[in-house]
Amino acid sequence: MKNSCPCHRKREERNADGTKLRKYRKVLTFFHENDILVIEIRSRRQKGGACLGEWTLLRYETIDSTNTALKSMTEAEHGTMVCSDRQTAGRGRLGRSFLSEDGGIYLSLLLKRSEPLDQLLHLTTMAAVAVRRAIMDVCSVQVQIKWINDLLVEGKKICGILTEVAPQGGVIVGIGINCNTDRFPQELGPIAASLCQFCGEVDREALLQALIRRLQEMDEVLFSQKAPWMEEYARFCITLGKEVRLLSAAQSREAFAEGISENGGLLVRFPDGSRREITVGEASVRGLHGYMN
Ligand code: BTN
Repeated sequence: MKNSCPCHRKREERNADGTKLRKYRKVLTFFHENDILVIEIRSRRQKGGACLGEWTLLRYETIDSTNTALKSMTEAEHGTMVCSDRQTAGRGRLGRSFLSEDGGIYLSLLLKRSEPLDQLLHLTTMAAVAVRRAIMDVCSVQVQIKWINDLLVEGKKICGILTEVAPQGGVIVGIGINCNTDRFPQELGPIAASLCQFCGEVDREALLQALIRRLQEMDEVLFSQKAPWMEEYARFCITLGKEVRLLSAAQSREAFAEGISENGGLLVRFPDGSRREITVGEASVRGLHGYMN
């Protein structure tokens, strides 16, 4: 098992910008539990001899929702991840459902943080940067971000992120990536796509490993490197510099998207010249004529 596992091979991988990827020491165990394949990945990063954390991956073939499952694991520790090949009741933002066919990566991560929730508002934004980096580590595509939690390739959504309060304390970050799926219901055809449509079949195991690495990187710098991560988010956020429609349960308003706040909020200017920060969960954003345009 040890030698066949890609995590144990020494690799000189590089990030998209040419810098060296940090190395992790990983131990994987595979076992079956009630006919469900469970793979545990324990990833331990050493720095000056200190262990910076150990994360665990619980892997399923089918589950209702990885976010819902992780919420029910009352004993789960910081860094517990639930991943499934498909979901039967995947959930999206603002009470929507999230289509979770075979061939995707559906992953939820528990970050058991003690900071008050109002200090974690930037988490969804940083997670979008982490996921973007992971996809670009593995797939040759250009990924853009649509505020706040959608990742797009060529204007089509290939990933959504749902951050929820964790009953265990802290937050759960749920990530759904369309990798090798190309069956979308007709109504989603103009909006959604799968990575494979742009770069051929995706190595999902490699993408999962990259994703975990990038999420660990994010966790380590969640507060210390907020500003550069926000800058990276803004650089690839196609919502900015556009007239947009802000949709909430109560109303639909047009505004010009000017920037991203330090908490990941969308800074907008209304036609009357007034300015406001739109916060996570307050509204979703559309183009004036459709999903993005
Ligand atoms: C959105 O686009 O509105 C967010 C979608 C988030 C989907 C992911 S898939 C893994 C996790 N489990 C869920 O039920 N939802 C999130």
